[in-house]
Amino acid sequence: MEFKNRDIISINDFSKEELLYILKVAKQVEQKPKNNLLKGKILAALFFEPSTRTRLSFISAMEQLSGTVIGFSTATVTSIQKGESLWDTIKMTQQYADVIVIRNPLEGSARLAAEAASIPVINGGDGSNQHPTQTMLDLYTIQKTKGTLENLHVGFVGDLKYGRTVHSLVIALSHFNPTFYFIAPDELQIPENYLDELFQKKVKYYKTSDLMRFSKELDVLYVTRIQKERFPDLVEYEKFKGIYRIDQGYLQNVKKELKIMHALPRVDEIDKSIDKTPHAIYFEQAANGIPVRKALLALVLGKISSRN
Ligand code: CP
Repeated sequence: MEFKNRDIISINDFSKEELLYILKVAKQVEQKPKNNLLKGKILAALFFEPSTRTRLSFISAMEQLSGTVIGFSTATVTSIQKGESLWDTIKMTQQYADVIVIRNPLEGSARLAAEAASIPVINGGDGSNQHPTQTMLDLYTIQKTKGTLENLHVGFVGDLKYGRTVHSLVIALSHFNPTFYFIAPDELQIPENYLDELFQKKVKYYKTSDLMRFSKELDVLYVTRIQKERFPDLVEYEKFKGIYRIDQGYLQNVKKELKIMHALPRVDEIDKSIDKTPHAIYFEQAANGIPVRKALLALVLGKISSRN
């Protein structure tokens, strides 16, 4: 298992053992912070798309470990506006930093950046494709709150077609003998290639458009926003916006121990009154971005040993 100089592009690139090791390091980092761990190191945060949690938690993680951050939160202030390619942007950035985190709307852009760079590249979300560090903090959150990742009944509701956090988490959890419940209208159901992979791995799953059908089965419900920005046709988006809403009525039909997750931002898919209930763990989930991203930065920069 080697993490030094490694790119973090897709959750498919990580074994079960490696994922568990990352969670173990995150726990150590959370319990015993080492505040000078990344002193002298520079993170380039290249965000071509809006972000609150991913960008700010990477900056905060780096700065809490005494590293520094350069970068941008919109491409409009960069020479991309003058026609510079992503490849050349990365070739330049690697001269100024030790590690790159990139968010870009093009699927495959993080992989391209990793090919261009000789320093580690971390995918902060590439279009509808993958968001691996979100998945690692999702796993950390589930492990922390449920006490295990094994044998869980996990529902995903909303936009399962464009929701990259769902795509990454389904692959990651498939190592842990889950049962999945995909709750979405046909048009927004999880893409077939993910179902093919689950079939090959003999993972049990159910598909439905009915939010209530499996509500009593679930240990975890992962709620997603309808991803307006990914719809080629906004008329289609209008058809589906607001289609599912988790409210007090929903809670009448769930296990007492159900945990409700959301990568955030939410629009209207979870009623605010849910926030105060013991079911809601989405703010804690976002906070877990700090230990997990600290662990990842320290691992790829070789400041924490990759040995188990
Ligand atoms: N969860 C997540 O990726 O949030 P942001 O889009 O705010 O970074």
